[in-house]
Amino acid sequence: MARQEACPPDFFTPPLSLNSQAGEMDRSNEVSLESMRDQLVTGNFNPEHREESIRNKTQQSLKRFQRAQESLAGGVSSGLRRSAHPYPLYFKRGSGSRVFDVDGNVYLDYGLGWGPLILGHAPAEITQAIASQLHRGLTFGAQHDLEFELSERLTRIIPCAERICFANSGTEIVQLALRLARAFTGRQKFLKFEGHYHGWADSVLVSYHPTLAEINAARGAPIPVALGQRPHDNVVIAGWNDFAGVERAFGRHGTEISAVICEPLLCNSGCIPPEPGFLEMLQETSRKHGALLIFDEVITGFRLHLQGAQGFYEITPDLATYAKAIGGGAPLSALAGKAKVMDLIASGKVVHAGSLNGNPLCLSAAKAVLDVLCRNEGAVYADLWRRGERLRKGLEGILRTHGFNIITAGGGPVFQLSFMEKPARNYRETLAADKWLYSNFALALLDEGVLVLPDGRWYLSTAHNDEDIDTTLAAAERAAA
Ligand SMILES: Cc1ncc(COP(=O)(O)O)c(C=O)c1O
Repeated sequence: MARQEACPPDFFTPPLSLNSQAGEMDRSNEVSLESMRDQLVTGNFNPEHREESIRNKTQQSLKRFQRAQESLAGGVSSGLRRSAHPYPLYFKRGSGSRVFDVDGNVYLDYGLGWGPLILGHAPAEITQAIASQLHRGLTFGAQHDLEFELSERLTRIIPCAERICFANSGTEIVQLALRLARAFTGRQKFLKFEGHYHGWADSVLVSYHPTLAEINAARGAPIPVALGQRPHDNVVIAGWNDFAGVERAFGRHGTEISAVICEPLLCNSGCIPPEPGFLEMLQETSRKHGALLIFDEVITGFRLHLQGAQGFYEITPDLATYAKAIGGGAPLSALAGKAKVMDLIASGKVVHAGSLNGNPLCLSAAKAVLDVLCRNEGAVYADLWRRGERLRKGLEGILRTHGFNIITAGGGPVFQLSFMEKPARNYRETLAADKWLYSNFALALLDEGVLVLPDGRWYLSTAHNDEDIDTTLAAAERAAA
């Protein structure tokens, strides 16, 4: 088996064997570490030693994970979490930039709950806002002032926002955006880019992280990610930054495409930025063909910039979806859009529903998040960028000094670190990255008290200070040594 295959694919990571004892994993599916080491040309972050060290100090997590698998399907509550190596850890609490596991280990956290914790763990502003709402009711299933207070505020901040809708997750809100686009245009298809993630609903979970063999076999057709998904005859796939590919797709399906949806900064596949003119071209082409442009800002919203990717790249889409940072860790999502489209909801022609939509608990959290992020006209973003860039460049420098080919993409508040030679301009080019090496680096960092996501994406929060960055860089230096 090649070293790349030793890395768990995103959604299919097999669970630990229920028969394995604490400290003894079923390793029948794993590549022997000896055989991997034989193939190395440079350092490998000493994974065998690191794994042993982590296992020794995380036995309570392993016991819990084994117990959980007997009642909780797969032992985790979201499939991606199974890809944690050597096994998913259990946490007791988080505070600012740090999380504390059940074995008493402390980690500087750059996963940040996969992005939502823009203010860090348990920030006083959010916990106080939630606590004070808690005593007044969790949900009314009816109207309250926070709804219009927050939507008024969002319409002032977000360029495309003339109207707002709330829901609970990014997955849901993307579905609403696509439904609106279909209703507005009277068309069924939408154009999605390979490698972009828009949630786990059937219609969008296609051509997310296909292997090269899957890509070759599909010949341009959408590739479902998992079993049980409905057929995807309404999805048209194009390559990110492929100007001609988008033109071709519209040439072939132009009268049937209701919307183009994209992550304006491709965070879910290497934080690949749009090439100059690409977003503008998407806007022009969709307009020309009567389709809507949807920015999925679930990651970029309130993270790249106070106005998200729209503000950062200065392109205003027709609709934009938000989740993660907007709730600061509370389950909240929002759709922002032009009135002419959103009015289909007002007229009842398009259904938007949900028992917990706009509940005051989550909206009070979002209000607290916005209070912090909007202070001094978003001055907090300058710090977030400065610290994030120091971290990104520092990691790059350390790894290069130790002889690794390293590429970083994105920047500041969210960036990607990949072991590869050239920057990728689309998802396919990210397949050149050595994921096995990254997974070893992540393991070594974990052993050094730094928690990162398994896929190479790093998130920063306003709680990470300069000392945290110094501590992290020192840990990376020890990991690479
Ligand atoms: C760009 C993007 N869109 C949509 C989603 C789905 O959001 P949720 O996990 O809240 O359903 C995600 C989740 O990571 C995402 O990154």
